[in-house]
Amino acid sequence: MPTSTAHIVEREKQHRLPGGQSMTDLAGIVVDRALNAEVWDKDGKRYLDFFTGVGVCNIGHSHPRFLADVNDQLGSFAVGTFYTDVRSRYYELLSSRLPERLGRIHMFSTGSEAVEAAVKLARAATGKHEIVSFWGGFHGKTQGALSLHGGPRKHRSGPFPPGSHQVPYAYCYRCPLQLEHPTCDHHCVGFAEQSIENGSVGDIAAIIVEPVQGTNGNIIPPRGYLRALRQLADRHGALLILDEVITGFGRTGSLFAFEQDPETAPDVVVLGKAMASGLPASAIVSRADLVEGTPFGAPSAAASTFGGNPLASAAALSTLRILLDEELPERSRRLGESVSRRLASWVEEFPFVGNAGNVGLMVGVELVEPGSKRPLPKDVTRGIFRELMARGVLAMAYDSRIRIYPPLSIPEHHLEEGLDAFEATFRAMSDSITRP
Ligand SMILES: Cc1ncc(COP(=O)(O)O)c(C=O)c1O
Repeated sequence: MPTSTAHIVEREKQHRLPGGQSMTDLAGIVVDRALNAEVWDKDGKRYLDFFTGVGVCNIGHSHPRFLADVNDQLGSFAVGTFYTDVRSRYYELLSSRLPERLGRIHMFSTGSEAVEAAVKLARAATGKHEIVSFWGGFHGKTQGALSLHGGPRKHRSGPFPPGSHQVPYAYCYRCPLQLEHPTCDHHCVGFAEQSIENGSVGDIAAIIVEPVQGTNGNIIPPRGYLRALRQLADRHGALLILDEVITGFGRTGSLFAFEQDPETAPDVVVLGKAMASGLPASAIVSRADLVEGTPFGAPSAAASTFGGNPLASAAALSTLRILLDEELPERSRRLGESVSRRLASWVEEFPFVGNAGNVGLMVGVELVEPGSKRPLPKDVTRGIFRELMARGVLAMAYDSRIRIYPPLSIPEHHLEEGLDAFEATFRAMSDSITRP
């Protein structure tokens, strides 16, 4: 007799620790199979996947070429850090797509681990120890990465390593300095500089920043912001680390978000999530002249058990080949243009859509109490999430900052179908939100 959804959920719940991804319990489904942008649960219900494990599956689920490549590698060799043909090919292909100065790559397993390594590299390369990060920024949950977070997720998790400074991000809809873009002339960068000068001990090793703040709600800074941070880093002899764990591999309409403003010229880029389409793989890519510093560059000092193992390397190589051959970054840019039009119409039509924006298929929608910027309360947004699921869409729509990450390979009619479901949900709930 087939095992029921309730039975499977209960069996897992009996044994697991709390603290798992909230999406798991809010959705409550048991996933059975998935193909490109579609997911089926154990009960046969079909969903469009606008979640993709938080932007992990840019090439779509169960891509046949990806399955074949990973299976091939699994059948031959899957363990350890010896040189492999597959990893050397991956490094070669990835390098060919990066600016020449970012010539060195090292693989890890998770985004947090790669962030920790980037910080370690920056400290070794500069001989300095302080790190500047941003309000609303998120870089992972290991202790060092969490110390860089600019928000309440780190509350009561201290003490953290010393030398971490958080400064305001260019979150223009809720400008922390109450200014307006573009007349502000990126004053938040000037403010950050004053914070650094007054709050640091003058020993800044690096500034680490997300090109678009993912966990904070897909918050898009204005054009020119990253370049201004580059200049800020230069003025302080600090490295600029771009955390492209979510924005990388085509999500924002170019292979990496920083390509959209070449003057950003990062010193180190952190990669993860979509890099290997579900297999645990992350990486840092760095300027070649920075990597020899110790302790980072000492034998074994940057190594980890699973980092760059043959299976992860095969998955990463296959993913990158598919992204390039199918021109998925370009597709993300193109589909993003039609998403932008939809979002603009939502802001027009629904008084509770306060702000909405996208870069490629990285989409953020901010829900507010009509006539204000107060976030819609959780009981309302949970209702939106459930309505959306009932209409067959999985998305991070359970709080006031909705985050949408479809596969970049999503067929256009599925993208439209999912956006229609959002619209139908908003319409169905409009009365109860605007006249509670
Ligand atoms: C920008 C960014 N950096 C780092 C991380 C941490 O990655 P991981 O969960 O793989 O440790 C995340 C995870 O959401 C992230 O969004």
